[in-house]
Amino acid sequence: MLSKMQTKVRLAGWTALIAAVTATSAQTPTTLKEAYRDSFHVGVAINEAQITGTGARGVAIVETQFDSISPENVLKWERIHPKPNTYSFELADQYMAFGEKRHMFIVGHNLVWHSQVPDWVFRDDKGNLVDRETLLKRMHDHIQTVAGRYKGRIQSWDVVNEALNDDGTLRQSLWLKIIGEDYIAKAFQYAHEADPRAQLTYNDYSLENAAKRKGALELIAKLKAQGVPVTSVGIQGHDSLIWPSVEVEDATISAFAKLGVKVVISELDIDVLPPVPDQESADVSMKIQQDPKLNPYAKGLPQSVQQKLTKRYADLFGVYLKHRDVVTRVTLWGVTDADSWRNDWPVEGRTSYPLLFDRSGHPKPGFQAVMQVAAKE
Ligand code: G3I
Repeated sequence: MLSKMQTKVRLAGWTALIAAVTATSAQTPTTLKEAYRDSFHVGVAINEAQITGTGARGVAIVETQFDSISPENVLKWERIHPKPNTYSFELADQYMAFGEKRHMFIVGHNLVWHSQVPDWVFRDDKGNLVDRETLLKRMHDHIQTVAGRYKGRIQSWDVVNEALNDDGTLRQSLWLKIIGEDYIAKAFQYAHEADPRAQLTYNDYSLENAAKRKGALELIAKLKAQGVPVTSVGIQGHDSLIWPSVEVEDATISAFAKLGVKVVISELDIDVLPPVPDQESADVSMKIQQDPKLNPYAKGLPQSVQQKLTKRYADLFGVYLKHRDVVTRVTLWGVTDADSWRNDWPVEGRTSYPLLFDRSGHPKPGFQAVMQVAAKE
């Protein structure tokens, strides 16, 4: 266990190192947040080690490079509200302190999701499913308690997460089965009631695929027509080297912008590993058997793949920048490659390279490419 003083000294060392290795010249921006300051927030999802300060290297990168944070896990229902009437705010409060100390744009992730929500939420004492009114009350109490606690301090909430199937229809979650289609509208209304100034986001993956995009556009249009306070759409951005194409990403952002909502790229990472079935998903329940053939870069990433990844980052940031009037934030889903969920999904124990900082905390060629995209503007 490191003492507070030891942690401080380590952190200062890492901050200086990150600043030095990312510096290009005195005149040009040296960090992501400076490079994109006039365009959009550049955020990052942080984990428990970073929140509590034990991951000093990660903390130094976060505070040097990013001006927004998302909680990778600590605000999820199962973490924060594991039992009826039992809330556990310790880590969430530390997450808030992390962001407030550094004057960051703080994101809340998430309020209503089919995953990482305890079973008690949907059941009575006998284990039977509850009725609509009971579940609406539970949803209301949860949102009021959590979003209410951080009122005026969390600037943007992912209110409803992943409510759509890949074919664009509504996912048959227990929220939908018990409450009905208006559970989405209700969640936004409750969130708005709890914090009227917070940005409220519908957040999902694979929104670039035609059927799902159509479903999402119809959903958002319907919510807007009903006066539901949805302010933005989160395109998660769990991408690969070939998907989605630049053209499709461009068209997807434009299509949502036409509905009068802002767009955030909420969980960006780019997978370089061999595709597995249904690669374009980010469904956390998917699990595939380990196989060395699926983990080819355990000893390092070949130069040729690194180059593809670098170009891909540059191309995607080019699209985001083109849409800076509507894209308000781009958030990387993890600090370094070592932190990424991609190392364990959909196959456990792989060596993945999806982010802008490597396992030693050094900026990758993709980092420099993203900086250059901003500099060219
Ligand atoms: O912390 C426990 C640890 O105590 C335990 O020993 C270990 C054993 O499994 O699990 C650890 O928790 C894991 C947690 O990540 C922290 O590493 C959970 O099992 C694991 O399910 C959880 O995965 C997270 C996943 O969401 C499910 O909540 C990933 O970190 C997180 O990156 C991922 O994020 C999601 C977004 O919320 C929504 N969009 C897709 C995205 C990627 O799946």
